[in-house]
Amino acid sequence: MPRIALIPGDGIGVEVVREARRVLEAVVEGAALPLELTEWDLGAERYLRDGVTITEEEFRALSEDHDAVLLGALGDPRVPGNEHAKDILLGMRFRLDLYVNYRPCVLLDPELCPLRREVGELSIEIFRENTEGAYAGLGGSFKTGTPGEVAIEEDLNTRLGVERIIRAAFEHARAKGRGRVTLVDKANVQRFAGGLYRRVFNEVGEDYPEVARDRMYVDAMAMDLVRRPERYEVLVANNLFGDIVSDLAAVVTGGLGLAPSANVHPGRFALFEPVHGSAPDIAGQGIANPVGAIRCVSLLLNHFGYPEEAAKVEEAVRASIRERVTTPDLGGSAGTEDVGRWITERVAQKRGAVSQPPTGA
Ligand code: NAD
Ligand code: IPM
Ligand code: MN
Repeated sequence: MPRIALIPGDGIGVEVVREARRVLEAVVEGAALPLELTEWDLGAERYLRDGVTITEEEFRALSEDHDAVLLGALGDPRVPGNEHAKDILLGMRFRLDLYVNYRPCVLLDPELCPLRREVGELSIEIFRENTEGAYAGLGGSFKTGTPGEVAIEEDLNTRLGVERIIRAAFEHARAKGRGRVTLVDKANVQRFAGGLYRRVFNEVGEDYPEVARDRMYVDAMAMDLVRRPERYEVLVANNLFGDIVSDLAAVVTGGLGLAPSANVHPGRFALFEPVHGSAPDIAGQGIANPVGAIRCVSLLLNHFGYPEEAAKVEEAVRASIRERVTTPDLGGSAGTEDVGRWITERVAQKRGAVSQPPTGA
């Protein structure tokens, strides 16, 4: 039986995971899925209380006694160094070698696109390298706090790391019939890392003749995602560029509150989290958009082999937007819980419509 650990975390993470859990529980109950949920008290509050981010024992229990994690967000203004996010979130990505960060940014309703002109359908799927690059934590500070301070932050790229994320992107494109994979880099300046990415991209791409190859410098990509987002299908990028283009692709397809993500080591472990953070500016107001977290439930259900249930959740999300049951970020007046309950009911109704025997027969 797949065991799922829920880590609500900080700020709106707590609010959106509550709704994602509501939806997941309705699905689990309705379809009698063998999924077991446990909730974990990890985040800024715990760190400030105990001075501990996550113990080795907890880390082991999370990773060895569970098959997946659903995380809200980690980040709190009272923890300016973000130590707990580094140990827990980056800890899981790195130590569990979750090398694929898959971030599908899909325009769920044409009205949600913030661009002035009408765009068609948008589905920009980002494959972000998740275990190295600028996130490796290599570097140091010298003469810290003096006028001569030196700060070094290394960008670490391995052939293995580059190849496996690029292959994951092409495999996905082939499996889903997507026509193009675009490499996002800065090879005009980063000669060594960019050169490695470009060489491997061409080599691996040769194995997928049916998928077109395309390259964009990250600065031009930022511009083009606004100018003509419909051109893009699958993007592959290093850790840092992948992080940056995620928020951009998310907002072009409706908003940061809508995008889900999966951090995966295929066949081993998965961590699901919305692309957004803990949003301290709106935390505690009950207005955060729970859709990104709820769409993580859909990714999770797909991951565990329940595509029909996953599709039901996606359909319910689309219906909530169509019916304008939306939070203020999308121009609506519903609260986080209103949206969560509406989607949960829709999922439950669909279930009833399919499985209830006709009455009065
Ligand atoms: P953020 O994503 O938290 O917020 C950016 C903006 O988007 C804010 O104006 C916020 O109100 C809005 N927003 C985000 N999610 C929303 C939602 N679901 N509904 C409505 N509006 C939403 O980014 P930030 O402000 O740069 O970061 C805040 C904290 O979160 C930082 O500590 C950061 O490190 C952390 N963070 C954590 C994760 C994670 O744990 N996965 C991801 C990103 C940022
Ligand atoms: C994300 C976040 C994280 C990242 C932070 C919180 C470390 O922005 O998941 O996109 O940079 O990867
Ligand atoms: Mn980010």
